[in-house]
Amino acid sequence: MTRFTFPKDFTWGSASSSYQIEGAWNADGKGPSIWDTFTHQPGRIRNEENGDISIDHYHLWKQDIHLMADLGFKTYRFSTSWPRIFPEGTGKTNPKGVAFYDRLIDELLKRKIEPWLCLYHWDLPQALQDKGGWPSRSITGWFSEYAAFMAQKFGDRVKYWITHNEPAVTAAVGYLLGEHPPGIKDPLSAIKTLHHLLLSHGMAYQAIHSNSKKPVKVGIVLNVSPAYPATDSKKDLEAASRFDLLNNRSFLEPLLLGQSPVTEIKLVKTLLGSTLQPGDLDQINHLDFLGVNYYSRTVVKHDFKTPVLELAQVHPPGSEYSGMWEIFPEGLFELLTSIWKRYGASAPNDHPFPELYLTENGIPVPDGLDFDGRIRDERRIRYLHDHIFQLQRAIQAGVPVKGYFVWTLLDNFEWAYGYEMRYGLVHVDFKTQKRTVKESGYWFSRVMLNNALD
Ligand code: FCB
Repeated sequence: MTRFTFPKDFTWGSASSSYQIEGAWNADGKGPSIWDTFTHQPGRIRNEENGDISIDHYHLWKQDIHLMADLGFKTYRFSTSWPRIFPEGTGKTNPKGVAFYDRLIDELLKRKIEPWLCLYHWDLPQALQDKGGWPSRSITGWFSEYAAFMAQKFGDRVKYWITHNEPAVTAAVGYLLGEHPPGIKDPLSAIKTLHHLLLSHGMAYQAIHSNSKKPVKVGIVLNVSPAYPATDSKKDLEAASRFDLLNNRSFLEPLLLGQSPVTEIKLVKTLLGSTLQPGDLDQINHLDFLGVNYYSRTVVKHDFKTPVLELAQVHPPGSEYSGMWEIFPEGLFELLTSIWKRYGASAPNDHPFPELYLTENGIPVPDGLDFDGRIRDERRIRYLHDHIFQLQRAIQAGVPVKGYFVWTLLDNFEWAYGYEMRYGLVHVDFKTQKRTVKESGYWFSRVMLNNALD
């Protein structure tokens, strides 16, 4: 058996998000979020499900942290619910909501688990949506107010801060495809959203640094995905580079280089118009670490019928698929090495490339308890093994990845798919809330303990 050992200071963790796990949607003074509104509308979510109760982490947080500690986790990436802190999005705060995260962070530290706090994993206060949401530039100010408050409260204990999770999803799925809240299908709103998310990152970056009592690191998490053309035709090659531009470069380049490639597409440039103001890109160009989420590659073909993008995703026949995406571990190596080649290796000394982490990776498996109470989710073990293998290949090739976060510890609410997609290393019985560690949980625990892949 070959063993691949990871660098000594390598971080292993799990990732989650507030709306997906907390439940308690209207408890203790929490205001409604856009996900509450959206999931309560008929026809939005598979099987009409919602996160009202979810896996009740709001009440079961302590046992969940203990489970994490018992499995040997040293790091936990979670998000805070903006409307639990600011029920109206801005102005008055909710002490009971603040107290929840206070307890959570203290318990994590007590169990020697490093908290990584993400401010925005999609659950925008409904009150702010009503005032215009992400297409309105005012939101950058509201977000900074939230960031500053959180840094004052938790900047003495939380060292790692994430401003946004997957801003491309907020812009594209929320405002262009309309499959996530607010369910809008409008290219102009999507482009404005993209820019305001990035600008709010830059403003929050300053706010977190200047309001924390101790030194902190502030980063962002992107759902970058390597683009492959469906065929060698010129049109498909162009479609692949357009996808790369819109999904990857339009986020990476403002953050890493202080420049925006979106204006390379004429229509997008027109739509963007005066949204991009002088000084914005300098403000965005700040990052202490970059988190990338990887689940799959994206294969695309030219499609003139799709507005703005003029491309469509293709599902190559003969590939293996999970309930949501193609399984393509080599894409992770490709993604990490290409990011490093483009932006890392050539970064100047006075503006070095930020720390790099793999902040999400995982697979939904429709697993259940066997007669003996065990959960044999071998497919998940194989998926994680093959991706961690590609990750260490990238490290061997010189890409300085500093950590890996599995998505996720506990089965939970998977957005538009409801509860059908089980991503957890730990099974949750959604009726009784009983947690049972799956075989993959024990397997991952050994990987962390050994800091190595066998
Ligand atoms: C990512 C999201 C995360 C989870 C996984 C499966 O896009 O960041 O919340 O739903 O997909």
